[in-house]
Amino acid sequence: MISKKMEKALNAQINAEMYSAYLYLSMESYFKSLNLNGFANWMRVQTQEEMMHAMKIYDFISERGGRILLKAIEGPQTKWDSPLAVFEAVSKHEQKVTSLINDLVDLAIKEKDHATNSFLQWFINEQVEEEASADEKVQQLKMMENAPGGMFMLDRELGQRVFTPPAQNSNT
Ligand code: FEO
Repeated sequence: MISKKMEKALNAQINAEMYSAYLYLSMESYFKSLNLNGFANWMRVQTQEEMMHAMKIYDFISERGGRILLKAIEGPQTKWDSPLAVFEAVSKHEQKVTSLINDLVDLAIKEKDHATNSFLQWFINEQVEEEASADEKVQQLKMMENAPGGMFMLDRELGQRVFTPPAQNSNT
């Protein structure tokens, strides 16, 4: 059985993951408005990943006998100055999410909740990937600031990304 404190903190993380999905969906829409459909596709996949993160926590709370209490999701930003500004925002946002996950792990340790701590390790590893992936795009976009042709190539590359749903009952 999960403690009330841990339950509340995990519920807040569901909201943070849903907000992430909302933010990336808003970014998808921004890229569509620029006809950068590969970038838009990348954001759609990112949105699906965030929904999956939220559902992973949802299922875990439920499995541990807790109660899911959904709150309102904040409205995301809708406009950015450039594709580079978008990915800088993604990078900053993912750093924030990493700190939220770290706080959850700290709480699980404090509560001596080994099951939640173990569950959260998947998110710790996922955040390493999420931050690296955003930073890679920032670097790529910075390199092609004066080479517009590169933007089309990157758009084509990002258009290849596909969402791979996790296997049922898998922790990977
Ligand atoms: Fe669910 Fe991008 O962190």
